[in-house]
Amino acid sequence: MAQKKKSSASKSPKANGTAAPSVNITSYMHEERVFHPSKDFSKGAHIQSMAEYRKMYNESIKSPEKFWAKQAKNELVWLKPWKKVLQWKEPVAKWFVGGQLNVSANCLDKWLDTPTANKAAIIWEGEPAGDNKPGEERVITYKQLHRDVCRFANVLKRNGLKKGDRAIIYLPMVPEAAVAMLACARIGAVHSVVFGGFSAQSVADRIFDCQAKMVITSDGGFRRGMIVQLKKNVDDALKLKDAEGQSLTKTIERVIVLKRAGNEVEIEEGRDVWWHRELHHVDANCPAEKMDSESNLFILYTSGSTGKPKGILHTTAGYLLTAKMTSKYVFDLRPTDVYWCTADVGWVTGHSYVVYGPLANGATSLMYEGAPNFPEPDRFWRIVDKYGVTVLYTAPTAIRAFMKWGVEWTKKHDLTSLRLLGTVGEPINPEAWMWYREVIGGSKCPIVDTWWQTETGGIMITPIPGATPTKPGTATLPFFGILPEVVDDNGRPVPKGSGGKLVIRKPWPGMLRGLWGDPQRYKEVYWSEVKGSYFTGDGCRQDKDGYFWIVGRIDDVLNVAGHRIGTAEVESALVSNHNVAEAAVVGRPDELKGQALVAFVTLKTGVIASPELREQLRAHVGKEIGPVAKPDDIRFAEGLPKTRSGKIMRRLLKQVAAGTEIKGDTTTLEDFNVLSRLGSSDD
Ligand code: PRX
Repeated sequence: MAQKKKSSASKSPKANGTAAPSVNITSYMHEERVFHPSKDFSKGAHIQSMAEYRKMYNESIKSPEKFWAKQAKNELVWLKPWKKVLQWKEPVAKWFVGGQLNVSANCLDKWLDTPTANKAAIIWEGEPAGDNKPGEERVITYKQLHRDVCRFANVLKRNGLKKGDRAIIYLPMVPEAAVAMLACARIGAVHSVVFGGFSAQSVADRIFDCQAKMVITSDGGFRRGMIVQLKKNVDDALKLKDAEGQSLTKTIERVIVLKRAGNEVEIEEGRDVWWHRELHHVDANCPAEKMDSESNLFILYTSGSTGKPKGILHTTAGYLLTAKMTSKYVFDLRPTDVYWCTADVGWVTGHSYVVYGPLANGATSLMYEGAPNFPEPDRFWRIVDKYGVTVLYTAPTAIRAFMKWGVEWTKKHDLTSLRLLGTVGEPINPEAWMWYREVIGGSKCPIVDTWWQTETGGIMITPIPGATPTKPGTATLPFFGILPEVVDDNGRPVPKGSGGKLVIRKPWPGMLRGLWGDPQRYKEVYWSEVKGSYFTGDGCRQDKDGYFWIVGRIDDVLNVAGHRIGTAEVESALVSNHNVAEAAVVGRPDELKGQALVAFVTLKTGVIASPELREQLRAHVGKEIGPVAKPDDIRFAEGLPKTRSGKIMRRLLKQVAAGTEIKGDTTTLEDFNVLSRLGSSDD
């Protein structure tokens, strides 16, 4: 790791992070710099000191039900009060049992008779034209958003979507994505947003898994000046069949198509309708459905260690409370903020911190449609400057890319409006943290490194910006009500400084309620590894101050540019290609992406390895899962190294992937015969 610079830290640095042997780039334990929030920042913050944080945290742990009851009463608008705060029968939690509310009403109607009604709820910046012209822009007030959501909710009803039905949302980063989510929530339908970068196959698999009745999509979306053919992908998805020749998508009755990119699309009479045409038939009167606290709000698919993505299920009251409270306290939201979370709505960060969290707080949430380096690498800074963004929440992989592109791009713009910075998605290496602080934050903005997961619904371990002293590379301390612990294989807490598995000891309101249609897998994956605790799948250490340092995944899930990718998923995509006999996918440390995907592939007899075949296989994975899962490197092998019991020796492959740079003829076959004899009984 590069040498660290001395900086304005309160304790003098003797930081010499070294390359970690295991999961990620840096061994953070040597990091000794500490940054305290400035007096100025703390003075105006929701939580102004560690004493205040500790008091509230202790209350939340000592009397959780009392604590959450108070928060739920203060933060949410209820249509009917709950009878019981928590009903816990491991592994099933029910929060605010007997209560009724509506998420869309909490995000929109709540503000109608207040000054917030005419405030910007969403500021949207479209992808710019190729000649670096500014993008299209739209500002939607709370009142307008309420109207748009009510009208679209009526469109959903008109098209047969009912309470409890599932709808797939497959849209680009346009305000209509938020409208569609909120409209589903308004009528009590369950949405499942599929990231626009996923393939037709992924869309079909998700439709099949949740038996969706409707797809909400657009003709296309813009990405780096190109049109992503979303409707075409949906058409393809709706034709896909399983191995027995059965349609995967026969539950789909309607496809609603937003006109966005203007590309030509096929419209199937009786199945497909245009969003804008449908609006002619509805009015803006759509009372929010009374929903039980535990009604399903959304399903979001994420990678696990087996080949099949998991449908993470979130429900109404607990999720909303978590999204709202974490947004308020972690981003320290204030009425004047222009808050920008750069995540796509296709990921959980987009759900909790572009849509539900900020809107439930009456904040202004900025949405950007395009890529950070299109048409030029200053795209983000241009937007920060243009709108006076005050809070920026992005991913370490993006920060590392900005570092690489250089400060000439950041210097072109005035970034002084920023007052708080956040990161999420993977461990941030201290160099990137320092660069973020100094170059983007002008050394004045606190950084909140937030650890959480699709499963947790909201932020779990994080600094509280007006209170927590931060250290580069750690997500620091737990949020209210969260009781994390680092344990050994027997579930016993490990001493400070030792590595172990990160578990959460108590249920929390935003936790997943299960895996869609698979209670057994839910129990096995999360509640069987460590008795009585939720198992996160992450490795972690606590330092002497109790700060949590996440070191990365310990299961077969990789974190590539902040995206969770199951190696088994990529492997099964590879072997579904007729040329492939066997495949093993492992991670390799990558300067920009955190981890890169390396696939070792053995071909069927008679198939010849070639650069063309490599490209063909990459494209095949892109088609099966989506471009995010394309292996960075495919290496052909005559056979894979295996233990005597037949297990692929992954640790060995990881070393090979990390150690050898491929030069020259990239089709060279790996010969694992020698290696496997050396590697004895690794798995
Ligand atoms: O390994 C952790 C990593 O991302 C995983 C969760 O991925 P996903 O469900 O896609 O959600 C990403 C956005 C919440 C975690 O198990 N991760 C997330 N945030 C951090 C992190 N690792 C280290 N530090 C973080 N701040």
